[in-house]
Amino acid sequence: MARVHVIANQKGGVGKTTVTVNLAAVVADTLGGTADNSPVLGVSTDPQASMLEWAQRVGDDLPFDFEQCHDNPALLGKLREIQQYSHIFVDTPGSLEDESILQTVLTQADDVIVPLEPEPMAFSPATRSIQRVIEPAGVPWRVLLNNWDPRDGEGDLNQTRDYVQARGWPCFHTVIRHYKLHTRASAEGVTVVQYAKNRVALEARQDFFKLALEVLGSGGGSPRHAGPDDNAGNGGPDNGDGGNGVTAPGKG
Ligand SMILES: Nc1ncnc2c1ncn2[C@@H]1O[C@H](COP(=O)(O)OP(=O)(O)OP(=O)(O)O)[C@@H](O)[C@H]1O
Ligand SMILES: [Mg+2]
Repeated sequence: MARVHVIANQKGGVGKTTVTVNLAAVVADTLGGTADNSPVLGVSTDPQASMLEWAQRVGDDLPFDFEQCHDNPALLGKLREIQQYSHIFVDTPGSLEDESILQTVLTQADDVIVPLEPEPMAFSPATRSIQRVIEPAGVPWRVLLNNWDPRDGEGDLNQTRDYVQARGWPCFHTVIRHYKLHTRASAEGVTVVQYAKNRVALEARQDFFKLALEVLGSGGGSPRHAGPDDNAGNGGPDNGDGGNGVTAPGKG
């Protein structure tokens, strides 16, 4: 049974699609598999379908399987029943109009990654999303600081960390830095694992490998939603924190 990781924030342009594609890519690249048998599925539930366009530009080099399913409610509400993958990474819409899609997908989530840009202007729509939709879903979630440009200094980053901490929000240790490579990747039809082999590209890629380590956690695999029929070898439903290293909201 797959672990379903949902990337969500109803604020547009915070990096949901960037994180979904590149995280799925590094996990697929690390876990191996073949073109016919990938351990990772990427899913777009966003009617804007920017992940679909990106995936089409990457073509056969896409290291994970891909499904666009915003208009397929039957599949949206059944992601956890998909059998053949280890991990499913789900991109979600960046708009309030599509809230029902997000709510449906959250019923399928093992954990939720909430990208947030270190920009004080971005805080209030993200806060609304967390308080009204993500937290009530009762699924472990963590904020991910994305698109921080070290050339801007640490002021905004620290202010954002303070804001997150003051609310008791769980947060990834990893920060995804701003790189032009990431901004251009979709148009150029590449994911982070296909960037050129130079120092900057390695640094850019490293952020996603660090994030993957945190997301997969030391236990690495137990689905939170494993049912009574699915307890062979994965710890079943009652294994404490689920082995996924995600801090439950309010306990961090
Ligand atoms: N770490 C980063 N470094 C450089 N550019 C980034 C980074 N993260 C996101 N971007 C850029 O910011 C823009 C918005 O990112 P993205 O499309 O992933 O956000 P989104 O949350 O999926 O948006 P929407 O809500 O519209 O779906 C894109 O141009 C993307 O390339
Ligand atoms: Mg998007």
